[in-house]
Amino acid sequence: KTIIKKIDANKIDMRFILEAGSILKKGGLVAFPTETVYGLGANALDEEAAKKTYAAKGRPSDNPLIIHIADVQALEEIAVNIPAEVEDLAEHFWPGPLTLILEKSPVVPYGTTGGLDTVAVRMPSNLVARELILASGGYVSAPSANISGRPSPTTAEHVRQDLEGKIPMILDGGSVEIGLESTILDMTVSPPMILRPGAITLDMLEEVIGDVSVDQTILGNESDIPPKAPGMKYRHYAPKAKLVIVEGNIREETLAIRQLAYEAAREGRKIGIIASGETVDFYTHGLVKNIGSRENEKTIAKNLYAILREFDEEEVDEIYSESFSRRGMGRAIMNRLEKAAGHLRISAAAVVKRQRFH
Ligand code: TXA
Ligand code: MG
Repeated sequence: KTIIKKIDANKIDMRFILEAGSILKKGGLVAFPTETVYGLGANALDEEAAKKTYAAKGRPSDNPLIIHIADVQALEEIAVNIPAEVEDLAEHFWPGPLTLILEKSPVVPYGTTGGLDTVAVRMPSNLVARELILASGGYVSAPSANISGRPSPTTAEHVRQDLEGKIPMILDGGSVEIGLESTILDMTVSPPMILRPGAITLDMLEEVIGDVSVDQTILGNESDIPPKAPGMKYRHYAPKAKLVIVEGNIREETLAIRQLAYEAAREGRKIGIIASGETVDFYTHGLVKNIGSRENEKTIAKNLYAILREFDEEEVDEIYSESFSRRGMGRAIMNRLEKAAGHLRISAAAVVKRQRFH
């Protein structure tokens, strides 16, 4: 039986935090809110707790976990040979949605790092998360609190859908702020390399530490080169329906998707459409969802996973999505959308042209 405790971040009930902290100390699992997505917490220094995490998520155990800390001193316990830039990064972006890859210290078990000699560390800003980390001894490993292969949870209800009955407690702190997982920056290479794009963008990082590179497997086409973050190789965030990204300018995209939805409706297929505030009224067939205005990428980021889950519940056969700008946080949005689509995309112009010849 899973206990769900509602917590108001502005008025945190410490009884719930202490109860959750004691579950973690005893080697159990607790799901909790962070500013990015909900995490499935465990004691990061306990190898057995890591095993439980992998079992609950159905996740391969070669996929390492991120250790969440609540103060910078904790970093020195779990990492060694910490490069000088880390201090600047921590000052600018912690607490916040930035995960750093560093050499691990011997106290971190290989069960937590998936056998690697490096460790991923992040200091979340969410107040419930911070209190929980402090109440549990200071080191909480937390993957996203979803079943492996489903979209990451952005509400406690999403966590319940995936993990009810499998974990003793969920702390419900309401909707998350950001909605996409943290930026992962590998500090063991020079220049540092982004392994997963997130709310802390390339430009923001370069402003603080200068040159930063980007793992080439993050964007663009399917490639044979394995990504550097083990977790990025899995077809994550996958909705049950086939998801296709339609690419072109906005006009072409809306015309193409409208046409595809019309054809599908005539053939009796149930279609979902990921539309933007600017285009949502243009569609005539299919189940249309407004992911937010193209002017506001933060809203798009926040709605993406919830919309994918809604389409799952409504059991659509296919989803067509408009494509979005890759600028700033758009890089993270398109990265997640492309992974959800398994890199399926079609040219809007080609669809529109085909129609003209009919
Ligand atoms: O925003 C987030 O980071 C959320 C919240 C809960 O904090 N957590 C999260 O964890 O997204 P997870 O387990 O879903 O993703 C962790 C990613 C995986 O892709 C994993 O392969 C990568 O981090 N990772 C962890 N340790 C690593 C390491 N030592 N080297 C390279 N990649 C690593
Ligand atoms: Mg995940």
